[in-house]
Amino acid sequence: MRSQLKVSRKADSFTESVIRGMTRLASKCGAINLAQGFPDFPCPEELKQAASRAIYENHNQYSVTWGSPVLREAIATKVKKYNHIDADPEKNIVVTCGTTEAMVASQLALLDPGEEIIILSPHYENYAPDAIISGAKPRYLELKEEEGFSLDEEKLKRAFNAKTRGLVLNTPNNPTGKVFTRRELKFLADLCHDYDAFCFTDEIYEHILYDGHEHISIGSLPSMRNRTVTISGFSKTYSVTGWRVGYTLAEENLSNAIKKIHDFLTVGAPHPLQIACAQALALPESYYSNLRQEYQRKRDLLLHSLERIGFRCVKPEGAYYIWCDYSRLDSHSDDVKFATNLVRKHGVAGVPGSSFYGTNSSSGERRIRFTFSKKTETLEEACSRLEASTPAKPRAYEQYIG
Ligand SMILES: Cc1ncc(COP(=O)(O)O)c(C=O)c1O
Repeated sequence: MRSQLKVSRKADSFTESVIRGMTRLASKCGAINLAQGFPDFPCPEELKQAASRAIYENHNQYSVTWGSPVLREAIATKVKKYNHIDADPEKNIVVTCGTTEAMVASQLALLDPGEEIIILSPHYENYAPDAIISGAKPRYLELKEEEGFSLDEEKLKRAFNAKTRGLVLNTPNNPTGKVFTRRELKFLADLCHDYDAFCFTDEIYEHILYDGHEHISIGSLPSMRNRTVTISGFSKTYSVTGWRVGYTLAEENLSNAIKKIHDFLTVGAPHPLQIACAQALALPESYYSNLRQEYQRKRDLLLHSLERIGFRCVKPEGAYYIWCDYSRLDSHSDDVKFATNLVRKHGVAGVPGSSFYGTNSSSGERRIRFTFSKKTETLEEACSRLEASTPAKPRAYEQYIG
């Protein structure tokens, strides 16, 4: 065999997804997968029927490249009401293969090699590869964990510079569960405005909110209308992560560039599922309040168990993950070793904290992320396995100090 041919520098400069890698390991070990954020319960019955109907009604060929008109109309109505963003279905909306494609297509459309993009960490692990694929240079700015993941305003002011072309925002946030406030968004908007930068905002968890927290789209702030790409999708709100339908909202000129990139990347998102997604947007208000209530119950179940076991947890304000410090349970193992032991020996998969930070950071050490997007019985079984993995040590510790 000839020696291996070289792959591109781009592909060589990032690793495979740790999250999706943990899912494969979990399935190999027969472990409960609290690593990857997808439900193990069914999507709403109405959506299954809408998808089958769309297939039987012959929506089985390519849709318009930037999205079926029915879906773009439904998105325009939804974003006006929920996100307070005016979008013309012809000019401002591109339907993509999930939020994943929406983010990378937007960066490919709007960034040039050598330009910098600021990523607030801890962050969803796709953002750095997205930037690298687009030729841009990711620059990581860590939120202040000890202050509830607040913005480090001084560091941010210093990080924005003449090469800064974009900021990636994710609210509600994966992995921390933080929901950015209007004041924080205004601060970021002012920086984007001053440095003429785009904001790529991933709002895929926009409907998953707890304890009265409110979702605000930075694209609804007047100064951000022309420089924001608002990205969302159907995966999480409607429990259809396998359907691969998302979208971008942007000013016409930006949208035209995104349309071209999207066209040559994928031609279009699955047509019958786009038709079903339009039906999803017609679900009543009660669907969203039930979704929030159910996830809040699951959050509380997992949070209380993890705390009882000895993890120090950040109580999420939104999304469906819990960010945990495990150092009271194990002060020796790094996060990768801790997570690997947990899945191999105790049958529960989480995601090591370091995968949510840039490669040169040590901030994710001693952290692990668990998702609670699972059935109650799955969460209960995971909790009893975790409890069995840490015999009495943390309780004894709590009694000793308390
Ligand atoms: C913040 C964030 N954005 C995007 C995605 C992927 O979204 P989609 O299924 O729409 O591609 C995920 C999945 O976990 C996520 O957590």
